[in-house]
Amino acid sequence: MIASYKARISMPFLHNPRCNYVLRSDQMSLTSQMAALAVLVFLVCATLASGAASVRVGLTRIHSDPGIPASQLVRDALRRDMHRHRSRPGARELASSSGGAATTVSARTRKDTPNGGEYLMTLSIGTPPVSYPAIADTGSDLIWTQCAPCGDQCFKQPAPLYNPASSTTFAVLPCNSSLSMCVGALAGAPPPPGCACMYNQTYGTGWTAGVQGSETFTFGSSAADQARVAGVAFGCSNASSNDWNGSAGLVGLGRGALSLVSQLGAGRFSYCLTPFQDSNSTSTLLLGPSAALDGAGVRSTPFVASPAKAPMSTYYYLSLTGISLGATVLSISPNAFSLKADGTGGLIIDSGTTITSLANAAYQKVRAAVKALVTLPATDGLDSTGLDLCFALPSAASAPPAIPSMTLHFDGADMVLPAESYMISGSGVWCLAMRNQTDGAMSTLGNYQQQNMHILYDVQKETLSFAPAKCSTL
Ligand SMILES: *[C@@H]1O[C@H](CO)[C@@H](O)[C@H](O)[C@H]1NC(C)=O
Ligand SMILES: *[C@@H]1O[C@H](CO)[C@@H](O)[C@H](O)[C@H]1NC(C)=O
Ligand SMILES: *[C@@H]1O[C@H](CO)[C@@H](O)[C@H](O)[C@H]1NC(C)=O
Ligand SMILES: *[C@@H]1O[C@H](CO)[C@@H](O)[C@H](O)[C@H]1NC(C)=O
Ligand SMILES: *[C@@H]1O[C@H](CO)[C@@H](O)[C@H](O)[C@H]1NC(C)=O
Ligand SMILES: *[C@@H]1O[C@H](CO)[C@@H](O)[C@H](O)[C@H]1NC(C)=O
Repeated sequence: MIASYKARISMPFLHNPRCNYVLRSDQMSLTSQMAALAVLVFLVCATLASGAASVRVGLTRIHSDPGIPASQLVRDALRRDMHRHRSRPGARELASSSGGAATTVSARTRKDTPNGGEYLMTLSIGTPPVSYPAIADTGSDLIWTQCAPCGDQCFKQPAPLYNPASSTTFAVLPCNSSLSMCVGALAGAPPPPGCACMYNQTYGTGWTAGVQGSETFTFGSSAADQARVAGVAFGCSNASSNDWNGSAGLVGLGRGALSLVSQLGAGRFSYCLTPFQDSNSTSTLLLGPSAALDGAGVRSTPFVASPAKAPMSTYYYLSLTGISLGATVLSISPNAFSLKADGTGGLIIDSGTTITSLANAAYQKVRAAVKALVTLPATDGLDSTGLDLCFALPSAASAPPAIPSMTLHFDGADMVLPAESYMISGSGVWCLAMRNQTDGAMSTLGNYQQQNMHILYDVQKETLSFAPAKCSTL
């Protein structure tokens, strides 16, 4: 997949009679071979009067992805590349209503639907708190939910709609806040009175648009583990594409300043993704000191420093040096997944991407090894599944044969994937749940491969730790 990005800043010099300001900004541009986000932001008056835009900052994705064919089985699972760019660094201490000390926040998480592609966490927004499920995404930063009034540009959500007018703690985020996506466009100038920042965030296949606000969020499901955090910057969306099934928004857990991890100053966080086809069980996402992982089975690997450029600066890069199938080490170049000086290549771990993608040279070795191992007849499943190596099972009800595990050799840590974490079955076909990526482009470890693993992101120590787990019982 090749995608390139061009950032544009245009100055339409629109004078709004209520705001009466003109801003200047420099032209910038960015190209990348990475699949990621597009963000469009502009300033408006907080009155949100029409025609208030003075400066437009556009980041437009130009994308030549041939497209992955849709499928019953995993088409919804292929929503991918849900990445947005990072804003300025600047974490602050996680302050709870119980008095400002660093604390841990928790959220129940579960799979969206058996054939959906995302994991949802539950949190609450506003005062009084309104609970909603949101996609947990380590590949992006913005936290957002739909806000009333929401017309026909909003999608149907499974929880009551949050109305900022009914909350005593909502505020429009000032344009000169360090967390404003528009702060760069101000270029140090004082914001016009009532200035608000409007965004349009585009993900791999969807988008969401609205105004940046600030709110009190409530985490935890019982009185004992409840934590209220004031002043969290979030996106108050009033228009979105229609593919956020089962959620009422998204929580970005990336490295950027807008992510929940950064805004809480959490230092570390952990999750355990329940089995992919099980949307009934739940597990717990923890952010803060209580996120921990120790024991005999725990392996740790250092994060590779992320490129400074957006959107790569948001991602968690790992050093993958090889892959084995069973006892056989595949002949993959140790540089197949290297992050290059220009910010291309590399491999990231992402909870918001479903199917792992591997640079093509490595993917072809994996594909050939799996093909050699399985004695079932190969079948063309591309149209029905979007995956390019599929086998026909004797019947729709047949269990797939037992095959050895696959091992991802990370720097200092082997990650063992049992067959059910790299093969996916349904409707009588059984497919390799991985896809290829243009050589030299970024590879992604998706959430299908992370199921039934307890995973700790220690952003202070810059390490990822993991251990096999039965997540539905945690
Ligand atoms: C969303 O809110 C903005 C700001 O109030 C407004 O300009 C826009 O028309 C709204 N969009 C929809 C679809 O309601
Ligand atoms: C998402 O919603 C659309 C329309 O509401 C529906 O057609 C589609 O099947 C849903 N997808 C999933 C995974 O639920
Ligand atoms: C934002 O601008 C207002 C008005 O000019 C000013 O009072 C405030 O100190 C500024 N805040 C920051 C963080 O720059
Ligand atoms: C946001 O961007 C997407 C993709 O460019 C576009 O289709 C959509 O209409 C935009 N939405 C708004 C409200 O500007
Ligand atoms: C999940 O719950 C549904 C409805 O209660 C049930 O039909 C289904 O078998 C359950 N699935 C699992 C994996 O427990
Ligand atoms: C992916 O693999 C298929 C065959 O397995 C090949 O036709 C295609 O060109 C590859 N795509 C990329 C981006 O390398």
